[in-house]
Amino acid sequence: MTHASAFAGTLFDLGGRTALVTGGSRGIGRAISERLAEHGANVIVCGRKAAAAEETTAAINARDGGRAVALTANITDPDGLSALIDGGRQAFGPIDILVANAGLHIHFGPSAEMSDAVLEKTLDGNFRALHRLTQALLPDMIARRWGRIINIGTIAAHFGSGRYHSYTLSKGLAMQYVRNIAVEHGEAGIRANTVSPGLVRTDMAQGLIDNPVELAREMARSTVGRFGEPDEIAGVVVMLASAAGGYVNGQTIAADGGQTIRYVI
Ligand SMILES: NC(=O)c1ccc[n+]([C@@H]2O[C@H](COP(=O)([O-])OP(=O)(O)OC[C@H]3O[C@@H](n4cnc5c(N)ncnc54)[C@H](OP(=O)(O)O)[C@@H]3O)[C@@H](O)[C@H]2O)c1
Repeated sequence: MTHASAFAGTLFDLGGRTALVTGGSRGIGRAISERLAEHGANVIVCGRKAAAAEETTAAINARDGGRAVALTANITDPDGLSALIDGGRQAFGPIDILVANAGLHIHFGPSAEMSDAVLEKTLDGNFRALHRLTQALLPDMIARRWGRIINIGTIAAHFGSGRYHSYTLSKGLAMQYVRNIAVEHGEAGIRANTVSPGLVRTDMAQGLIDNPVELAREMARSTVGRFGEPDEIAGVVVMLASAAGGYVNGQTIAADGGQTIRYVI
């Protein structure tokens, strides 16, 4: 497939592929959308607010060969997810790459204070949206014998936490879901993996970055002594989405400045 990407013909070529990125309008998702497009993919950028999604697609479409559409949906709404897939297919045809990036972190505190409503909403956003989108997209992927499911997790879900209950529970479920899909559909050409970011400079993490006590706690385990940038997650996603990641399946890759390998004594 000929296209304007500088990566055409390389291991990282995404020409002819179509990617759906939830939460693709800001933060990590925006970097993922921009880098997938830069590598040749058509990109469906999803967020709740049209203005931010349109700003991202305008930036992509302004570049040579960039092809992106902005669609609004709330990932906690099943009907919204169906409409998102319909709109994406209308724009570009079958969807080859799902990046389930948008996430909810709406409760901090002890388990005794985690209400059913908070837990259900968080499960809807961080786990059921991944399942619903995967379920809807897999038939096309299987028919074409090529597909990528990429879940954006968190290193918080690699540990136990007394404060991040619903967030880590839902992200933990999503990590296991991806492993199951990898086993179930690997031979059909599907690859399903999780990228777990550590602390990355985005709107979601700004409160933590601005709080010296919280930041010091996070950085205590870092092996690189700094927080990450959205592009440092996007690069891993491009690898997993492209031929370069073709032999990686069912894995959880921590992009965390080594926070999860350090033994603190
Ligand atoms: N930043 C970190 O340090 C960090 C660390 C570990 C894991 N993560 C994970 O990385 C992912 C991205 O986080 P981020 O830091 O990039 O967040 P962010 O900067 O707050 O961006 C969130 C993106 O998701 C969209 N979004 C939020 N809620 C949504 C919903 N209910 N439905 C649809 N779209 C929604 C937002 O657009 P709208 O507001 O327009 O909806 C925006 O595009 C999340 O899954 C998060 O858990 C982040």
